[in-house]
Parts: sequence; structure tokens; C-alpha cells
Amino acid sequence: MPARLIRDGVHAVGAVDWDRRLFDELIPLPDGTTYNSYVVQGRDKIALLDTVDPTKEQDLFRHLKELKLSRIDYLICHHAEQDHSGTIPRILEMYHGCHVLCSPKCKEILETHLDVKPDRITAVQDKETLELGGRTLEFINAPWVHWPDTMFTYLKEDRILFTCDFLGAHLAASDLYAVDETTVYHSAKRYFAEIMMPFRSNIRTHLDRIQNLAIDVICPSHGPVHNHPAFIIGAYRDWASDQVRNEVLVPFVSMHGSVRAMVDHFTEALIHRDVRVLPFNLTRTDLGELAMALVDAATIVVGTPTVLVGPHPAAVSAAYLVNALRPKTKFVSLIGSFGWQGKMPETIKGLLSNLKATFLEPVVVRGYPRPEDFAALERLADTIRDQHRAIGAR
Ligand code: FEO
Repeated sequence: MPARLIRDGVHAVGAVDWDRRLFDELIPLPDGTTYNSYVVQGRDKIALLDTVDPTKEQDLFRHLKELKLSRIDYLICHHAEQDHSGTIPRILEMYHGCHVLCSPKCKEILETHLDVKPDRITAVQDKETLELGGRTLEFINAPWVHWPDTMFTYLKEDRILFTCDFLGAHLAASDLYAVDETTVYHSAKRYFAEIMMPFRSNIRTHLDRIQNLAIDVICPSHGPVHNHPAFIIGAYRDWASDQVRNEVLVPFVSMHGSVRAMVDHFTEALIHRDVRVLPFNLTRTDLGELAMALVDAATIVVGTPTVLVGPHPAAVSAAYLVNALRPKTKFVSLIGSFGWQGKMPETIKGLLSNLKATFLEPVVVRGYPRPEDFAALERLADTIRDQHRAIGAR
């Protein structure tokens, strides 16, 4: 794929990684990803905004060659994670006059993680500007979306905002722009759930900050460029809000069928009460899909059998992930089965301590569920329906 023109003198020069299927050895990438990098040319100076993952450095070098750049004066680093910064050392070797500009925290990380020499980096402050000659870059510190070092850059004359990981998506595509909004929405929501959700309040703050800017184009560090910014900004406002949906997420695991029978009955009970239900069998679930379901659901009900007194390790792992992602969930409960002793509710409740959620009366049975146990599941479904109505979950 060649370098792409965004405006005269503004090009996308990053790489598409069609084959990557795992990020941070944790996050599934069913649709690959991109490492976006941009060149902004002024009358006097040339800036490169971010680099690419080192595995794709040849793509970046080829694109820079296509543009026939005699030099790069500045390398703007929005964030020190290696998928964007990993090729900085090679660029500094190739372009001797090139100097890195980044946030103070990013400077620290580039020095400690990539051994970039301090005399090649200058920290810039919030609202500081850089003149390129007819083009002005304004830097906007945006910490904690998702690292402490994140910075945006606003290209004033062209009304382009470079947003780093913020507003991005893990989506490999040949389209430069987000033309297929259904696909982009799905990928961007998955990305929000996995990367951004723990920082919802900071996200709202940064959305308010950029609201004051005139923006024609948003250039994130992953996924398509947005030439209709309202689409992605509106989606982020929705996902980062406190509004929950009339949905119950049921991550579960069943060893011998008891929990499965409880989940099946509970699922039917919720459907009968017009509550949307999303059962996830944890032995088969893509963790990204589970994370996405957390963005909107009002309630999470964990389903687990007992293993060595406590919850099944798959349920523990899911609860740990939920706790780390800090969704806006309002209610939590547990349904499960034990043989001779079970402490699943206490353990799961402890694992979900980051959530600002009310713990509803769990349903824990000995062995296979009996009619009175199914009746208890019906009562839990009643409670959830009533609580959702009380908080206005739609
Ligand atoms: Fe895409 Fe946090 O790096």
C-alpha cells in the first residue's frame, strides 16, 4: 500500500498489519490492525507524527522514500508504547537532524524503554505550539487514555486532530477513511472496551477538551482516518457515559451440567421479562467479545461450579478481567453449584471490588438444581428486571 494523501503536504505513511492476531500477548485481533504514522510538511520544516511497530518498519521507510523527503526535522511521539515508538531509534539513525518532541512522561519512557538519548528528545508542554511554516502544530497533553504519557496534536490550519490510540480501532483495511461505518463501529467499540474503558472519566474530560476545536479530520494511531468526526466522537460519548442498557452479561463455565442448566433457565427467565441476556461460555469465548459486552450491560451474573472450594479458574480469570476493565455495570450476582462446600460468592465479590455495583443475592445450589432452585433463579430475574427499570436502563 502506498503513502496516502490526506491534504496537500499531509500524508499517511504507516503500515497495515493484516496478519497480526494478538496484541500484548493478551488482546485478540480478529481483524488485524494498522500502525498509523503521518507526515506533515510546512514551508520550512517537516514533521513525522509517530512511527510504526518495528515488525513493519520497512513499510514506513518505503513510504518516506516515496515522498522523497530530504530530511525530517521533528518526530512527534504521541505515546511511547512500542507499536508506535518502536521504530524511533531507526528513524533517528537515518535522519541525523531529527529531534523527538513528546510529553514529559513520554520522554522518560522513551529513555528507559527504548534507550533514546536525552539530547535527541525535548518534552513539550500542554498547548505549546510548533511552527512548520504555514502550518502550526499544537500539542495537547491527554494523560491516561490509556497510558500516562499520551499526547494529541492539532494541526490548526487544516483542522486535523491526531489522537494517538484515542478514537482508534484495531482494523486492517485498504480504505484510508472510515467508509464502512458498521465495521468501523464494531472494531472501535472492541478497541474502546479492551483499551479505553478503565479510563471513562478521563475520556469524557478529553472529549470535552476537543469539543472546543474545529475538527474536519481525526487521524488516530490505529484503524481508519475519520473525515466525519461526529461519528466516532458520538460513539465514544455513548460508550464513556454512565448510561447502561437493559442487558445482563452471564459469563459462565459448567463442568458436569448443573451450572449449564441454571444458566439456560436463567437466560429464559430474563428473556421472558424483556431483559436482554448475553451468555458467554468461558471455555469458548473470545475475550474481546466479552469485553465489548461489558461496555453497555447493566448487570453481570457470573456462573460457576466449585473447584477446590472456590470458583472455577475460568470464572476467576473472567472476574479479574472485568475488575481490571472497570465497566459501568450497576449490579452483580452469581449463580453456581457446589458438591460439599462452596465459597464462590465471597471470592467473586472480592475479585470485583473495583466495580461500583450492588451485589444481588446469589443463587448457589448443591449438586443439580431442583425446582426450588429454579424458582430462586426466577426471583433473581425479577429483581434484575425491577432494578433495571428503577435506574432507567434502556
Ligand atoms: Fe497503540 Fe498504546 O499503543
